[in-house]
Amino acid sequence: MTDSPPSSLIAPATRATLERAATLLRAGELVAFPTETVYGLGADAANPAAVAKIFAAKGRPANHPVIVHVAAAEDFAFWAREIPAAASKLIARFCPGPLTLILPRAAHVSDAVTGGQDSVGIRMPSHPVARRLLQAFAAQGGRGIAAPSANRFGHVSPTTAQHVADDLEDRVAMIVDGGSCEHGIESTIIALTGDAPLLLRPGSLPLIALEATLGVPLRHPDRSRAAADTADGSATPRAPGTLASHYAPRTPAELVNAETLAAVSSRYHREGKRVAALLRTAHAPERAAHTLIAPVDVSGYAHMLYAALRALDAHGDDVLLIEDVPASAEWLAVRDRLLKATYQEIRN
Ligand code: TXA
Ligand code: MG
Repeated sequence: MTDSPPSSLIAPATRATLERAATLLRAGELVAFPTETVYGLGADAANPAAVAKIFAAKGRPANHPVIVHVAAAEDFAFWAREIPAAASKLIARFCPGPLTLILPRAAHVSDAVTGGQDSVGIRMPSHPVARRLLQAFAAQGGRGIAAPSANRFGHVSPTTAQHVADDLEDRVAMIVDGGSCEHGIESTIIALTGDAPLLLRPGSLPLIALEATLGVPLRHPDRSRAAADTADGSATPRAPGTLASHYAPRTPAELVNAETLAAVSSRYHREGKRVAALLRTAHAPERAAHTLIAPVDVSGYAHMLYAALRALDAHGDDVLLIEDVPASAEWLAVRDRLLKATYQEIRN
């Protein structure tokens, strides 16, 4: 998917590698590691100076909170000052798995982790390499690994070790290789800090499963407010990953219906523009410079989405046309990422 040479920082997930990764983390270094959703850029969550390095490496504003990754269900109670009944239900049913819970923070949690908010995001990943790393880290006295997605701020999340190297090569001590991430898009984020469970980010864990366990419908955030936060840049966003400009390829991208894709592509071609296209059901437009065809099913599509966006982006074409996906509940998380990837065009 990329022409870059293999990185010497990428290490296979052997026992020795994971021991060394845990030691580096305990020494305050940054280590990227695989999860079942996307790769994370990890730092010792109990070490504010180490967490600060994450923000420098990503180029991310310091008021953006990071998720604490834990080894065991019991660890939620170390980072949160209380575990509401709804959280206990979700932890019992879905952890380990692609779910992040926003809970009231414990007093010792640093502002570096929470972005100064009174809450903390906690997640127990299910990827075997992430779990082994968290266990090795715990064996060395670590309590949790703070990790955002291991990409430069605003860029597409990484789903392979090479993607991490492409974005952050000289900014991490080690990249643990766990192959390509199973789900391919980020965890579902639920806030349990108010009266009712609130969906902050749709993700790899489907809402229908969460609502069945909670026994109540999830409230959804107000998207127009997220867009306003981006424009003025001063507000402290509730969940910065919900900002409209996130997950963007560098090539201007446009979401297009299957039926109009050929016509839109021809129009750009006539204007002298080079077109890249990410298709699902549509035929490849005749004059597109580069095309990729994605799986028609939602899990296959999510699995390859970020790799496809990165691969198409790398050609440096003038415009990236993305065939729209169904507007059904099943596609909610994928469509959320596509809308963000194409935000400029949606807004104009
Ligand atoms: O799947 C995932 O969640 C991946 C893997 C590496 O675990 N992580 C990830 O992290 O996507 P990041 O930082 O790219 O996105 C985390 C989102 C951000 O939008 C952040 O604002 C939100 O979680 N978040 C974290 N702590 C929060 C808090 N206390 N309150 C509100 N939002 C929070
Ligand atoms: Mg991210």
